[in-house]
Amino acid sequence: MLDINIISYGLGSIGCQIAKFILEKEGLKIVGAIDVAKEKIGKNLSSVLELEKQLEISVSGNAEALFSNIGADLVIHATSSRLEEVYHQILGCLKAGLNVISTCEELSFPYSKHPSIASELDRQAKAKGVTILGTGINPGFLMDTLPIMLTSPCKEVKNIKVRRVMFSGNRRDSYQRKIGTSLSQDVFRKMINDEKITGHVGLFESISMIAAALRWKLSNIEVLPPEPIISENEVKTTCMTIKPGQVAGLKSVAYGLKGKEKVITLEFISHANVKRPYDEISIRGVPNIRQKIIGGIHGDIGTIAMAVNAIPKIMNAKPGLVTMIDLPILSATLHDMREHVKWRK
Ligand SMILES: NC(=O)c1ccc[n+]([C@@H]2O[C@H](COP(=O)([O-])OP(=O)(O)OC[C@H]3O[C@@H](n4cnc5c(N)ncnc54)[C@H](OP(=O)(O)O)[C@@H]3O)[C@@H](O)[C@H]2O)c1
Repeated sequence: MLDINIISYGLGSIGCQIAKFILEKEGLKIVGAIDVAKEKIGKNLSSVLELEKQLEISVSGNAEALFSNIGADLVIHATSSRLEEVYHQILGCLKAGLNVISTCEELSFPYSKHPSIASELDRQAKAKGVTILGTGINPGFLMDTLPIMLTSPCKEVKNIKVRRVMFSGNRRDSYQRKIGTSLSQDVFRKMINDEKITGHVGLFESISMIAAALRWKLSNIEVLPPEPIISENEVKTTCMTIKPGQVAGLKSVAYGLKGKEKVITLEFISHANVKRPYDEISIRGVPNIRQKIIGGIHGDIGTIAMAVNAIPKIMNAKPGLVTMIDLPILSATLHDMREHVKWRK
């Protein structure tokens, strides 16, 4: 049986953790790696991943050259949250005839905010007979796919609320930075305004995906600016110390509106003082449904697993741009990945 050959594109925290997970899985093989960081280019992948075992792969800084030299089936892409930034990176993968799974939040449901990029990616993927997906824990699962699945036994749905209350103190460094951890309140607001930090990206896409699945025509999607959550005490996280009066994390809220009615409400709260994390979905309808995941799902582990568990579904999917609502239900793919794949080519 053929292995599924994979190129790791973007070797930050998430890209590295995905690459390590791939190396553990039977039926998957890493054949190439790409990053722009000077300190990584030319290095052996094993040293970037901090592995003892040597891999015969050095990190390339030139995606086009790598694609023309190495045959692969799929790219796992984890470089940035903004679709406009990753568009050319992904287009390059598609032009090289490679399937793509990306953790780019805005790719998870790009049709509303970036319709022309979405249609160009779809066109290019179809022309090359490959498939492209944006996924992760959120967007990708907790605030869209899971609530959508929970509406399956409903005869009627009036509104949906999702609340994610997350402990951020054990998340990756880049995550803690992007939610403003340990900044002063003023610097937090300035960095959010100047887009130097993003806060959480994806509420707009999750609302768009829920509305598309339910065929709801929303009059507006309102994403409120993130509000800092200030720490009253000193807190040490895995990578920072937060002093009293500094930012411990943030709260982001977004609404999907039909007229003045909030038919979808997403609340994302993530900070280093959360004592009891949880993810909660409430559906008002017939019947009402309420689901609470006590302890919440660790966002980094969840994202890595979602990206890898999506591999067989993407290898079997129809060509083009797909979202989580176009795919069969994902599951943990615990055994040989090749058993799940019907080779298309
Ligand atoms: N959907 C979800 O649920 C979910 C969950 C987790 C993460 N994410 C997203 O996944 C992405 C990766 O996360 P992360 O924490 O690993 O980010 P990160 O630490 O910033 O890593 C990104 C890596 O990609 C590299 N890179 C940037 N531009 C590149 C390019 N043009 N070509 C090749 N490499 C490039 C970066 O290099 P430099 O450092 O030199 O720029 C860095 O090494 C982020 O956008 C994050 O928000 C999504």
